[in-house]
Amino acid sequence: MNRTAENILPLPVHIAIVPDGNGRWAEKHGLPRLSGHREGVLNMMRMIQYISEYPIKYVTFYGFSTENWNRPEPEINGLFKLVEHFVDEQLDKINEKNIRIRHIGRLNGLPTSLQKAISRAVSLTAKNDGMTLGVAWNYGGRAEIIDAIAKFTADPDKPQPLDEKSFSRYLYTGDMPDVDLLIRTSNEMRLSNYLLWQTAYSEFYFTNVLWPDFGKKDIENALIDYSRRNRRFGGS
Ligand code: IPE
Ligand code: MG
Repeated sequence: MNRTAENILPLPVHIAIVPDGNGRWAEKHGLPRLSGHREGVLNMMRMIQYISEYPIKYVTFYGFSTENWNRPEPEINGLFKLVEHFVDEQLDKINEKNIRIRHIGRLNGLPTSLQKAISRAVSLTAKNDGMTLGVAWNYGGRAEIIDAIAKFTADPDKPQPLDEKSFSRYLYTGDMPDVDLLIRTSNEMRLSNYLLWQTAYSEFYFTNVLWPDFGKKDIENALIDYSRRNRRFGGS
C-alpha cells in the first residue's frame, strides 16, 4: 500500500533519536571524522524539517553524552564548534518554524561560548508553541536522575508523597511526555544512557543506515513500523 504522511496512524507524540554512524560514514567516504559530524548536523536540520511535516509534538536528539568526553580532544572541540556554528546559521530558521528548543543535560562543564549559544537558542524560542526540539548535549540518563533527586531534595515545596508523575517533573525533560518511539541508526542496538526514565515503555526502531544517510523515506518507514506496533504497557 502506498502510505502518505496523512495516513500513518497512530503517530508517536515524542520521538527520541540517537543519530549514530557519523564516524563510519566519514570513513566510508575517505573523509576525516569531523566531516561525518558536519554531515550529521546537516542531516539533523533536514530531519527536523521532515518531522515537522507530521503533527509530531516532540523530537529529542542525542547530541553529546556525558561519555563522549572520552573522545579525543580535537574531535570534542570540533563537535562544539559545529554546534555553535549550527546555532549561528540555523537558529532564525528554526524560530521561524515556530519550534521551541529545549536543552537536556548539564550546561555546566561546557565551554562558555557554547553555553551562551545554547542559552540563546533556548530563550529565543521559549514562547514558540509548535514542535519542541530537545537537544541532549552533555547529557547522561543516570546523571539526569541524580540531578533530579538533588533538585527534589532542595525544593521547599516538594510534593509529598512523591510519585512517578511528580518525580518526572524534576528531570531535564520536565513537562515533556515519555518517549513513544526511539530510533537509533548505524546498526547499534543500545540505549547508551539515553533518556533512561522516559523510555520505560518506548518502542525501539533500529536500522543499518548511517545517520548522515538517514532520509525522508527512512523516517517514514520508522513511523509506519511504529504505527503497526501493538502497545500494551504491560496489560494483556
Ligand atoms: C554519532 O556518530 C555522533 C556523536 C556521538 C556525536 P559517531 O561519532 O558515534 O559515529 P561512529 O559510531 O564512530 O560511526
Ligand atoms: Mg557511534
